[in-house]
Amino acid sequence: MMADFHSDALVFFGATGDLAYKKIFPSLQAMVRRGHLHVPVIGVARRAWTDDQLREHARDSLEHHGGVDQAAFAKLSSLLHYVSGDYDNPETYEKLRQALGNAQRPLHYLAIPPSMFSHVVQGLGKSGCADNARVVIEKPFGNDLQTAEELNKILASVFPESAIYRIDHYLGKEPLLNLLYFRFANAFLEPIWNRNYVESVEITMAENFGVQGRGKFYEEAGAIRDVVQNHMLQVVASLAMEPPSGHAVEAVRDEKAQILKAARPLTPVDVIRGQFRGYLEEEGVAPNSQVETFAAVRLYLDTWRWADVPFYIRAGKCLPVTTTEVMVKLKRPPVNVFDEGCTDYCNYIRFLLSPEVVIGMGARSKIPGEAMSGSEVELVALYTQGDEMEPYERLLGDAMKGDPNLFVREDIVEAQWRIVAPILDNVTPVYQYEPNTWGPPEANKLLPQGTDWYNPLPRE
Ligand code: BG6
Repeated sequence: MMADFHSDALVFFGATGDLAYKKIFPSLQAMVRRGHLHVPVIGVARRAWTDDQLREHARDSLEHHGGVDQAAFAKLSSLLHYVSGDYDNPETYEKLRQALGNAQRPLHYLAIPPSMFSHVVQGLGKSGCADNARVVIEKPFGNDLQTAEELNKILASVFPESAIYRIDHYLGKEPLLNLLYFRFANAFLEPIWNRNYVESVEITMAENFGVQGRGKFYEEAGAIRDVVQNHMLQVVASLAMEPPSGHAVEAVRDEKAQILKAARPLTPVDVIRGQFRGYLEEEGVAPNSQVETFAAVRLYLDTWRWADVPFYIRAGKCLPVTTTEVMVKLKRPPVNVFDEGCTDYCNYIRFLLSPEVVIGMGARSKIPGEAMSGSEVELVALYTQGDEMEPYERLLGDAMKGDPNLFVREDIVEAQWRIVAPILDNVTPVYQYEPNTWGPPEANKLLPQGTDWYNPLPRE
C-alpha cells in the first residue's frame, strides 16, 4: 500500500562518503530546485564535523557534480544539519533524536557500507528513531541469498515491509521506466511478445572504463554481484513480466516477483566469466584474484510465454563502449518468399537504455528497382535526450512520498539471489580479455553455433 504521508525529515547516514558526494547532494539540490524538498536534512557520519562543514562539503560536491544553483543551494544549506558519531554507539542515535526535533516521520537513508546496515537499523530501533519512520537501504543488499535473508530479518525486526525501501538505482532510470511504458501503453507488441515470435533476447551492459579505484569494493563483488544480480535482472523482469493487472501499487512488483521466481537458477554451463588484463594491478586487488570483471550468462524463464527463449546477458568493464542495450530478436519469416539471404537480425526490437533512449525496430524493405529484393531498415520509434531527473532524485522523492513501486521488495531481492546463487564465488574459470574488446571469446560458447553476440555500436 502507498502510505499517505510525506516524510517530515530526511536523515542520511554516510553523509561524508563517496555516494553522498557524487550523487546525493546533487539530487538534494535538484529536489529543492523542483520544490520537492522542504524538510530538515540531517547528515550522519563518523567525522567530527559541524553543520557548516557539511554545508561546505555539499557545496564542494555540487561544484564537481552538476554545478551550484545559488538559490537552491541557499535553501538546501538552511535545511542541512550534521550529527557525528559511530554507528554502533547509542549516543549517536540520542543526538539524532534531538536533531530530529519535532519530526515524527523521518526517512532514514543508509548510504553506508553493507557491514554497517545492521548496526544502524538496530540503533534506530532502540533509540525510537525508527518509530513511524521509513528506511532506504543502498545496494548491495546482502552478499548472497543467506546474507540477504539475514538482513531482511534484521530489517523486519525494526520496520514493517511497507516502510522498507531497497534501492536499485536502475529502477529510477527514465529508459527503464520507458521500457515498461512502451510495452504496456501500446497494444501492438503484446501479440508477438512471446516464444512464438521471439527468438532470443540479449541485454548488454557495457562500460568502457575499469574499476576506477574501487578495486577493494570490486574484489568482494565482481560483475555478477555488482550488476547482474540486481540491475540486469531488473531489466529482464521489465522485459518479460506479464502485464500488471489492476491499479494497485503492488501490481507491478507482483508481476516482477512472479517472473523472477519463474527463472531457472543459472548453472555453471550458463556462465562465462572474464577478467580484463590489467585488473590484477589495480589497487586493492589480490595478485591472484579470480574475480570477474565480465560475465555473460544464458537465462531461461520457465513460463508458457518464455519457455526455451534464451535471455542472454552480458555485463563488463573495459569493453569498447559505455552503453546498456536490449536486443529482442524475432524469428524469421517461415518461408523465404523472395528467395534472398537475410541476416540474423532481420526483424528485431531494440531498446537503447543508455546513454540515450532509443527504440528501434528492424525490418526489411524493398530496394526500389526491378528486382524483388530488399535491405534492412531500422524504424526509430523514439529518440530523446534523456530526462533530467536523475535516479537518486526520483527514488528519494518517491521514498519520502511513500511510493514503493520503484524499490525492490523482499521476495524480489531473494528471488534475484536465488537465480545467481549457483554461479557465485568462482565456480567457473575466469578468462582474461584485452581491454577495449567484447570480453573473452569463450562467451560465444553460450550462443547457438555459428551465431554472434549483438555488439552495440558507439553513438556520437
Ligand atoms: C553500480 C555499480 O551499481 O552501477 C557500478 O556498482 C556501475 O559498477 C554502475 O558502474 C552503473 O550505473 P550507471 O547509472 O552509472 O550506469
